[in-house]
Amino acid sequence: MKSWETLEGACLNCQKCDLWKTRRNVVIGKGNKNADIMFIGEGPGEQEDIQGYPFVGPAGQLLDRMLAAIDMSIDDVYIANIVKCRPPLNRDPKEEEQQACINYLRYQLKLIEPKIIVCLGRIAAKAIIDPDFRITKQRGQWVERKGYWITATYHPSALLRDESKKRPAWEYFKSIRDKYNQLKG
Ligand code: URA
Repeated sequence: MKSWETLEGACLNCQKCDLWKTRRNVVIGKGNKNADIMFIGEGPGEQEDIQGYPFVGPAGQLLDRMLAAIDMSIDDVYIANIVKCRPPLNRDPKEEEQQACINYLRYQLKLIEPKIIVCLGRIAAKAIIDPDFRITKQRGQWVERKGYWITATYHPSALLRDESKKRPAWEYFKSIRDKYNQLKG
């Protein structure tokens, strides 16, 4: 029997990789635990590490605006990351850190059972969809696997760095809405 209490207890005590040594908080997730859509980012940044919730810094504010543009809010989705502890100086999470953490995310997926999984950025797409995933070429494509519809888009931080990526990302968010409406029937 899977439970949120088991997951949270395991995560809060986790020392499976070295990231526990520098974390301020374990960032498990936020949003609706019965959501049909789950967004998966890379790992907590500084603000997330301080506050204990994912996507609360500038990238999170942009994500909130993009959700609002498709008439959604945090109450309609659940948001988590590939790793639950902040990699120092926001470096990419190492392969061994991702491997140590991924089973918590799998457990979370089983608890939530979303219909749609949206990978935010290269790291999440490689971990969830395909290790050879190319975000520039394959973003926006949908795959159905193990009962989930899965897709990937640019990470909101990439959109903040490069304005030219914003328009395709807005279009893409509409395709998430379309898929959601289609699956809702
Ligand atoms: N970037 C991520 O990938 N995740 C967060 O929670 C915040 C920023």
